[in-house]
Amino acid sequence: MTSSFKPVRKAVFPVAGLGTRFLPATKVLPKEMLPIGDRPLIQHAWEEARDAGIEEFLFVTGRHKNMLEEHFDYQPELMDTLEARGKKDLLEKVRGSEMPAGKLFLTRQPRPLGLGHAVWCARELVGNDPFAVILPDDVIMAPKGCLKQMVEAYNDLGGNMVAVMDVPRQDVAKYGVLDIGADNGKTVSVKGLVEKPEPAKAPSTLSIIGRYILQPEIFGHLAAFEKGAGGEIQITDAMSKLIGKQPFHGLRFEGTRYDCGSRLGFLEANIAFGLIDSELGGDVRHMIDRLSGSAAPLKRSAKGST
Ligand code: G1P
Repeated sequence: MTSSFKPVRKAVFPVAGLGTRFLPATKVLPKEMLPIGDRPLIQHAWEEARDAGIEEFLFVTGRHKNMLEEHFDYQPELMDTLEARGKKDLLEKVRGSEMPAGKLFLTRQPRPLGLGHAVWCARELVGNDPFAVILPDDVIMAPKGCLKQMVEAYNDLGGNMVAVMDVPRQDVAKYGVLDIGADNGKTVSVKGLVEKPEPAKAPSTLSIIGRYILQPEIFGHLAAFEKGAGGEIQITDAMSKLIGKQPFHGLRFEGTRYDCGSRLGFLEANIAFGLIDSELGGDVRHMIDRLSGSAAPLKRSAKGST
C-alpha cells in the first residue's frame, strides 16, 4: 500500500431490485439467483469480491430476497446426502458456496429509490471505511477478477475508483459516463461524471461498469437524497461531488463484461461460460454449430425486447 488510504475489506451488494426484465421467472425467484453455468449471479459476484481480499459482505436486500442469504448458508441435510452417496465433486461445489461464519451482513432497502439510496442503506455497516460496490448484474469474465484488478490499482492510487469500458455512443444513455482528464491507457483520472446522458451530449463513451471502490465520504452526499436521472437517487451524482476533493480514477479493466440485467446479455454469458466449461465446453461448441446451421433466419420482434 503506497497511498495513505485504508485497504478495502468490505463490499456492498445492492440486491433489492425487482428483476422485471426476467418476469415471470423472477416473480418469486430473486434475479440474483438466476444461474450463469452452475452458479447464481450472486455467487459469481461474491467469489469475485472474496478473490479481491474482501472480508465482509454487505447485502442490501428487500422483500422476497431471503433466498440470497439461504444460498450462502450451511445446508446439513444436503451435505449428509451427498456424503452418503459419495458425491465428492458436488460436496466441494456446495462447500464452495458457503459464506464463512460471521461475514455476511444484511440490511434492507425498503423502497426502490435508486442505486445511490441502496448504497446509503448500508452506511451503518460500512462505517468509516472505504468499501467496494458490486452490481451482480454485471458479470465479468477475466483471468484476474475485475475487483482484484481495481484493488491493486487502488492500493497505488487511493481515493475512489470505478471500472470502465468504452461502449457504442448510442448506448451511453444506459450508463454513468466519464468526463476524462489524464489518461495513461489503463487508468484515467475522472474530471466529471454524468448518469445516463443523451448520446449527443455525453462527455465521452467511457462508461461505468458495476464495480466501484469508494471512500466513506460518499455517504454525506448520498444523504442529501437528491434525485437525478429517472427521478432516482443516483450513486453517480454523489460520486461526482467527490471529484476534486479526493482522487477519482476509472480503471479500464481486462476482461469481458456481460450485461446479465438484460435477457440477451444473460444468454450470451451462459453461452460464454458454457464454452469455457471443462466438462461441457466441447459439447457447447457443437451445439452452437448445430443450432446456427439449422436455425431459420431470425425475425426480430417489433419491440426488439432483450
Ligand atoms: C447502474 C449505474 C450506472 C452504471 C451501470 C452499470 O445503472 O447507475 O452508472 O453505468 O449500473 O451497469 P443501471 O444499470 O442500474 O441502470
